[in-house]
Amino acid sequence: MIEANRLLQLDGRLFTEDLEGGRSVHGEQLMVREGRTFREWVPWRSKMATYIKKKGLPLFAGRSLLYLGAAQGTTVSHLSDLMPNGTIFAVEVSSTAFSPLCALSKRRHNIVPILGDAFHPETYSMMVGSADAIYQDVAQKDQLGMFLRNSEMLLRKGGRGMLMLKARSVDVTADPQSVADRTAIGLKEGGFEVLDVIDLDPFQKDHYALHVERV
Ligand SMILES: C[S@@+](CC[C@H](N)C(=O)[O-])C[C@H]1O[C@@H](n2cnc3c(N)ncnc32)[C@H](O)[C@@H]1O
Repeated sequence: MIEANRLLQLDGRLFTEDLEGGRSVHGEQLMVREGRTFREWVPWRSKMATYIKKKGLPLFAGRSLLYLGAAQGTTVSHLSDLMPNGTIFAVEVSSTAFSPLCALSKRRHNIVPILGDAFHPETYSMMVGSADAIYQDVAQKDQLGMFLRNSEMLLRKGGRGMLMLKARSVDVTADPQSVADRTAIGLKEGGFEVLDVIDLDPFQKDHYALHVERV
């Protein structure tokens, strides 16, 4: 699904090969190298970029990715660059953010925008079918519940998940690391193997990436 040769790491910076052939999506820098155009993927603006900087590229197998909390499509656009033969179902609840997401999806064949509430996967399950991977980046209290509900309904067995956890949204008073630990336990109890838990500091404070596989 993810084509590693479309990611470039140069002098500590990350770039993805632009699917649009040379158009900046969110003001990021463009770079041409050996006839290929790349867009810079800035870790301060994308938790996935931070994860890759810290841990490397997670290679999801399969073709379809369910993305919860797409916003305007910053991270979605880079994943779209990396999986030209896949499909990203991008769910976003805010109509303000949905409008630029829709504009992006009109220019890119592999993004299906869905205006919806990720606490209710039954409202978009017909569209998504069975996903090979789920990515979630939603600052809500019940991030674990949202992730489990979507996985149970839409993630195939053996599929991968990436839960970008904002610990302070779950519990503003608790130690963020203990929130991440509790979430990892909840994922195990929910039928996942936890592959790694990465603290995204200093790019995103009190955020953790939980990379899992559905068993
Ligand atoms: C941190 S932003 C996502 C940033 C984006 N993932 C990126 O890296 O480009 C979180 C997004 O989740 C959306 N969101 C919040 N609650 C949601 C829900 N219940 N269902 C879907 N999206 C939701 C917000 O509107 C917001 O756009």
